[in-house]
Amino acid sequence: MCGIIGIIGKDDVAERLVDGLKRLEYRGYDSAGVATVHGGAIDRRRAEGKLNNLVKELAGSPLPGTTGIAHTRWATHGAPTTSNAHPHATGEVALVHNGIIENFKPLRDELIARGRTFDSQTDTEVVAHLVSELVEQGASPKDAVRQVLPRLHGAFALAILFRSHPDMLIGARLGSPLVVGYGDGETYLGSDALALAPLTQRIAYLEEGDWVVITAQGAEIFDKDNNPVERPVTISGVSGAMIDKGNHRHFMQKEIYEQPVVVAQTLKAYLQRMDDRVSLPIPDFDLSAIRRVTIVACGTSFYAGMVARYWFEQFARVPVDLDFASEFRYREPVMEEGGLALFISQSGETADTLAALRYARSQGQKIAVVVNVPTSSMAREADLLLPTHAGPEIGVASTKAFTCQLAVLAAFAANLARAKGRLTPAEEKEIVRHLAEAPAAINGALAYDEAIEAMAHHIVPARDVLYLGRGTDYPIALEGALKLKEISYIHAEGYAAGEMKHGPIALIDELVPVICIAPSGPLFEKTVSNMQEVQARGGKVVLISDYDGVQAAGEGCLATITMPKVHPLIAPMVYAVPVQLLAYHVAVLKGTDVDQPRNLAKSVTVE
Ligand code: F6R
Repeated sequence: MCGIIGIIGKDDVAERLVDGLKRLEYRGYDSAGVATVHGGAIDRRRAEGKLNNLVKELAGSPLPGTTGIAHTRWATHGAPTTSNAHPHATGEVALVHNGIIENFKPLRDELIARGRTFDSQTDTEVVAHLVSELVEQGASPKDAVRQVLPRLHGAFALAILFRSHPDMLIGARLGSPLVVGYGDGETYLGSDALALAPLTQRIAYLEEGDWVVITAQGAEIFDKDNNPVERPVTISGVSGAMIDKGNHRHFMQKEIYEQPVVVAQTLKAYLQRMDDRVSLPIPDFDLSAIRRVTIVACGTSFYAGMVARYWFEQFARVPVDLDFASEFRYREPVMEEGGLALFISQSGETADTLAALRYARSQGQKIAVVVNVPTSSMAREADLLLPTHAGPEIGVASTKAFTCQLAVLAAFAANLARAKGRLTPAEEKEIVRHLAEAPAAINGALAYDEAIEAMAHHIVPARDVLYLGRGTDYPIALEGALKLKEISYIHAEGYAAGEMKHGPIALIDELVPVICIAPSGPLFEKTVSNMQEVQARGGKVVLISDYDGVQAAGEGCLATITMPKVHPLIAPMVYAVPVQLLAYHVAVLKGTDVDQPRNLAKSVTVE
């Protein structure tokens, strides 16, 4: 999962390519590079690490040329070094790639046997050589690409530049997104509409297997069987303005603070406050015949799905399967005709989730998608699109997308329950009332930021941290552990509180802080018993609860964090906030890169 952009421009393009990369950095930031054709030759600049290094490189050694391609990398094959940075080039061809060429090894061996030499350890470089070989033998760029594409297995989006044809670029898409942008006497390729936002809003989304030849005059698109095809040009509506941090130190902090507003915005689309009803963006989508829901997602989105499983089963009494997208297809799940498969994703591009979606479609499922990027592949492949209105999420660690997903899923569960005849109007009214309280309650949770910041130093020296929760607090424990490990690099695990005694309690000593998520309510006492089992063994507990909970069980804790008292339905949205803030402050104290933690990328478009 890397970001790619190509421009056939009227003027020099290097600066605009780099501006596009800034918008794509969420896809990876291990290295970056740009290539143009000028003076009859391909020229490139590449740099290891963050995009700033490439900017410095270009400042010292500018790159002229009106046609060019650029790339920001999340390393798959080969370390994040300059020689593995894209574009990869021969004398004739330079290309950038997002995805994985799964059969690169035999292709590489074959090319080496024919005398070609490689400069990198990447899977990508084989494509540059395969295309170049044919061009060197006299094939046109179009013929060369047409012959090479069927030889590539795996997932790719490609943008290819040719020394002898500085007036064209060729792009191809299989499994990784690629869009064509139409400008005024200019044409563009990009991983998404966001990359091209300041250049054009007129976007065509390539479909699986499509490839495209772009010139300044426009684009010629071909499908996987090489037939010329038209793909509709849509107006993306994505803002060209660079998103900024406002008064906040990090995007993650800004996004945590945006939650009351964006959750309210999201709920507005799903609640009819006037008549106390929940609703769907497609009101006539029939949910009454749904007998089973299969929820599939990755990472934080998976934990949102885990919370939703409780709601679907409790409200609608519909059985729910839940799986990681990366595992789902491989167990070849049996999916009854007519079931609903529900995919949850911030980006809408996560390769594992997208592949699972396509599997579910092949099994005759209706496809519902909870997604934050409305122009994403998943959004476009859904039967029932359930958007979150979180706005662009830039921090790599997901925060506001998660609480907005929870808001959508709670409303969706209530819709399903009503369609199944399981919800009386009075119960529906109660659900609407509680959900409507969520934004203010999240705001109330944010008011404890300083207290959380003050206790974060207890966690900083830890090597391991455990998070415990029960019921819907269990996925929040998992989410808290994920947040902490990904941005502070402290090892953390979430456990179902009742499972501690079946093994993990052996880990407890005074050096392992245990964060207990236990709002007062039906499960409080049981969780507190598990917490006391930890304390009895010398464990240092941080209790996150409301005033009543802290009064009842706070004694003897290393620290307590007091949340507003809320209804259990919205507790997951509210208790997400302290675990996000805790991870944030620990990371700040440790001095890690909060918004771009090591080894990660925002959009994971490789399987
Ligand atoms: C964690 C995080 C990831 C994503 C996961 C799925 O903070 O952001 O775990 O949740 O990569 O991404 P989406 O939701 O875009 O499918």
